[in-house]
Amino acid sequence: MSTPAGFTLDLPFRPRRLRRTAALRELVRESQVRAADLIAPLFVVEGEAAPEEIASMPGQFRRSIRDLVTECRELHALGVRAVALFPKLDPALKDARGVEELNENGLILRAVRAVKAALPELVVITDVALDPYTSHGHDGVLNAAGDDVDNDTTVGRLAEMAVRQARAGVDFVAPSDMMDGRVGAIRAALDAAGFTATGILAYSVKFNSAYYGPFREAVGSAQAAGTKLLSKATYQLDPANRRAALAEADLDEAEGADILMVKPAGAYLDIIREVRERSERPLAAYQVSGEYAQIHAAARLGWLDLERTRDESLLAIKRAGADLILTYFAKDVARALA
Ligand code: PBG
Repeated sequence: MSTPAGFTLDLPFRPRRLRRTAALRELVRESQVRAADLIAPLFVVEGEAAPEEIASMPGQFRRSIRDLVTECRELHALGVRAVALFPKLDPALKDARGVEELNENGLILRAVRAVKAALPELVVITDVALDPYTSHGHDGVLNAAGDDVDNDTTVGRLAEMAVRQARAGVDFVAPSDMMDGRVGAIRAALDAAGFTATGILAYSVKFNSAYYGPFREAVGSAQAAGTKLLSKATYQLDPANRRAALAEADLDEAEGADILMVKPAGAYLDIIREVRERSERPLAAYQVSGEYAQIHAAARLGWLDLERTRDESLLAIKRAGADLILTYFAKDVARALA
């Protein structure tokens, strides 16, 4: 609709004045994404093979320890300050109790030592959960009936796991399992072992989400024993529940989490905002594998612009209140910002 020539509204304020030029828009921009806000999740495998691309996650690879170190160097040079490492185990090493996790010379601990030796200043974060190690793919050990994850036995295992990771040199451990009481138990175990400086990045508000599909393919935890699809509904949060989510954040804060996290990010911006407003702790959000896959898939079809959608998705997470973002786009964004 065009207004007749010479027609002038008498407005007390014209918002468009602040959007007139690129310089003005930049001047009044409220949120921004910096390379130092980003944490890059990376997958490591045994052996010396060349990096293997994950089919549903274009541009993401399972890497040997040597290639992992190279990738960390590149990320660090681009201004990314932290990486979150995930192991993809040989299926032959998995069993119902995840005993390979007890191996002091296991894949993830060797990866941590290699990265910290090469880049002592890079913040290294490891996941505390048993799913890479269990044949059934659950984050913990099962109860006697075999029909659910046993909370307290699992927490005992996770506390020991965190101490092993601390000994290997991680800066932060990141419990991603959603067992009750695990943050407090991990804090106590770390302190008792002398690791008072090792932090806890808690997956405080982790929903039982379909968006983890590509990740489970990446680490090979997609399927429970037998034929039924893996359900983590007895420990991960119901996506319908806002109050339950906030209660989890409160508990992790009270148990001593240094950084709280909401996961996934894009579909849970309301929760990010609410946790931001009730806690003074730094807040992270995890833009998970399915969020990344979705944007790439649409871009491949020519239906969305990859860079613009990527940048907008991350900006929205910052605007909602996250200080830090775990994202598979970390390197691309850092490169674009450099
Ligand atoms: C498992 C774990 C998951 C992710 C991080 N740690 C998946 C799950 O709970 O099954 C998902 C990350 C992603 O989808 O990018 N402890």
